[in-house]
Amino acid sequence: MTSLAQSLTLPCGQVVPNRILKSAMSECLGTPKHAPSAGLEVLYSRWAAGGTGLLITGNVMVDRRALGEPGNVVLEDDRDLAWFSRWAQAATANGTQCWMQLNHPGKQSPKFLSSTTVSPSAVGFGPAMAKAFAVPRALTEPEIEDLIARFGRSAGLAKRAGFTGVQIHGAHGYLVSQFLSPHHNRREDRWGGSLENRARFGLAIYDAVRDAVGPGFPVSIKLNSADFQRGGLSEEDSVLVMEMLQDRGIDLVEVSGGTYEAPAMTGQRQRASTREREGYFMDFVVRARKTLTVPMCITGGFRSCAGMEGALGDGADMVGLARTLAIQPSFSAQVLAGEDPKSLVRRLSTGLKGVDRIAALDVTWYEAQLARMGAGKEPAPDLGAWSSLLSTVSRTGIQAFKMRRAK
Ligand SMILES: Cc1cc2nc3c(=O)[nH]c(=O)nc-3n(C[C@H](O)[C@H](O)[C@H](O)COP(=O)(O)O)c2cc1C
Repeated sequence: MTSLAQSLTLPCGQVVPNRILKSAMSECLGTPKHAPSAGLEVLYSRWAAGGTGLLITGNVMVDRRALGEPGNVVLEDDRDLAWFSRWAQAATANGTQCWMQLNHPGKQSPKFLSSTTVSPSAVGFGPAMAKAFAVPRALTEPEIEDLIARFGRSAGLAKRAGFTGVQIHGAHGYLVSQFLSPHHNRREDRWGGSLENRARFGLAIYDAVRDAVGPGFPVSIKLNSADFQRGGLSEEDSVLVMEMLQDRGIDLVEVSGGTYEAPAMTGQRQRASTREREGYFMDFVVRARKTLTVPMCITGGFRSCAGMEGALGDGADMVGLARTLAIQPSFSAQVLAGEDPKSLVRRLSTGLKGVDRIAALDVTWYEAQLARMGAGKEPAPDLGAWSSLLSTVSRTGIQAFKMRRAK
């Protein structure tokens, strides 16, 4: 029997049925008013039947004034709770765990969605992104307190709706990650400066979430191993933040890396040797495991059973899969049945570098696959880059050509 089939008991006492986690993928299947659509139920039923022990939802926003992308789902009050319950019910069939990922984009909200954005400090993006993303306004102290309370409120609502856990998005350059980064966070009050101060926002969110959901409910965070950006969060500081969360009782840390400006999470800007090897952040997990006891999930680059088992052997407790499960929703069931499936994830290109970048091809192509499954169709791993681009344009119009997100 593969080691991936073993269950995992979390610090809160809940049990995850196996070691495979579906990492968050923003589905962009919210209704125009940002409620969960019926397509999410269809998509998550498919995944809940696919053997994966733990599904993390795509990021759900805690504030409808701050969206990361068109089609985001928002959970800030109980107006759409019945729709969230239907989604949770579909996603937790067959004993599958489904945890809601909660997020605030901070300055990573494109201009066509937000003319003003907020961040710990008024630090803009470099030239490559400055056209599409506004220079943010620094948050005031009462606004910071309000945002912390929002994460707690959304977590309580997720529990009420029937999700079996929550994950705080602390990675990929969004707001929590902006606070952790010495580059983005230049504050001189208790929210910036020392690591203790930069970590205060994420830790306060954890406390608010824990207060809202109680001690027996899984709470996770996705964190960068590093930002891969000059002046960003370092590996040393990242381990220390994980230790602080471990001491507070977090149930699972999912390890990723990068930001919109340095998208390491999908293997871009990584050394070719790292990209080709499975587990982009494995070296970090091996090092972090020396001092940390908290359950750790490693995500990014896994494509085979051997690679995933290797990660467990090297110190990870779970392995996260994203793109593979967008085109092979039953990949985990095949792994658990000992079939040794191969991931069909491949490098995508229209042949025109500029078009690939502007259209965020590696995101929109996978979104198209999620939309297909949400509509009850089979995913189409052979879908050409140009046809996915055209279908994105027909779904979202000219916005397809405006910079969206790196991940
Ligand atoms: C279409 C798409 C949407 C994504 N949305 C999110 C998200 O909402 N939250 C998040 O933490 N990561 C998001 N990611 C990143 C994935 O969770 C994962 O970290 C990354 O794709 C690397 O894993 P993989 O090599 O198995 O794809 C997204 C990735 C893709 C392809």
